[in-house]
Amino acid sequence: MTEPTEATDVTVTVGPDALRVLVLAGSSRAGSVNARLAALVAGQVERSGATADLARMRDFAMPAYDGDAEADEGPPPAAAALRERLLAAQALVIASPEYNASMPGVLKNAVDWVSRFRPQPFKDKQTLLVSASPSMVGGNRGLWALRVPLEHLGARVYPDMFSLAMAHSAFREDGELVDEGLRERLAATVDSFLALAEADTRYLCLQRRWYEFLGDESSAPITQRAED
Ligand SMILES: Cc1cc2nc3c(=O)[nH]c(=O)nc-3n(C[C@H](O)[C@H](O)[C@H](O)COP(=O)(O)O)c2cc1C
Repeated sequence: MTEPTEATDVTVTVGPDALRVLVLAGSSRAGSVNARLAALVAGQVERSGATADLARMRDFAMPAYDGDAEADEGPPPAAAALRERLLAAQALVIASPEYNASMPGVLKNAVDWVSRFRPQPFKDKQTLLVSASPSMVGGNRGLWALRVPLEHLGARVYPDMFSLAMAHSAFREDGELVDEGLRERLAATVDSFLALAEADTRYLCLQRRWYEFLGDESSAPITQRAED
């Protein structure tokens, strides 16, 4: 069953076959503006008829990547938990802070650990990146940095991104965005992304057969990144 959403008339399947979207806030801080943005995205996901699984980095606290620890014990339980949540979702949204013009180390560390599982869980995952920052560019540089490892891992990172500038004063008390134009833009970005993600679950022609991830057994002999 499909129904148009209010914001953009995009149709997204609702009901038991609804698209499941993992919405991950890249900050665990109380009062995090990225967690607030993630909550808004999750609300828009639900309004569109899809299912949102809202998470934050604190749910996946893991040690710094260590190749010896991996060899001895395998990936830590939190990495396995994040992998499970990723596998249960057809799409991923990350709301990430910008740290020193890049992504937070804790987020990159989680990506590194999760990338060690086979099949590699980010491969072919429809992914939308959003950010919030007190700065005038809303943490957008961090998203460009985050795009690099995700695209390297074969995630289908949506071309449009949403970065909320002056985020410390951008939210109303009820959690909504103050600016109506930004509210509409966020809703339209999320809806367009969901429409593509859902189409990707139904139309095999969207799947990129040419794509090769180094280390993916299906497309090439196993290659360890450390041995490149
Ligand atoms: C280590 C560190 C580096 C930061 N670097 C940047 C930066 O490069 N650009 C930026 O816009 N904000 C930067 N900030 C400020 C964050 O955008 C701000 O703390 C924001 O509130 C973090 O997101 P959160 O509220 O979701 O935790 C930095 C903050 C920290 C702690």
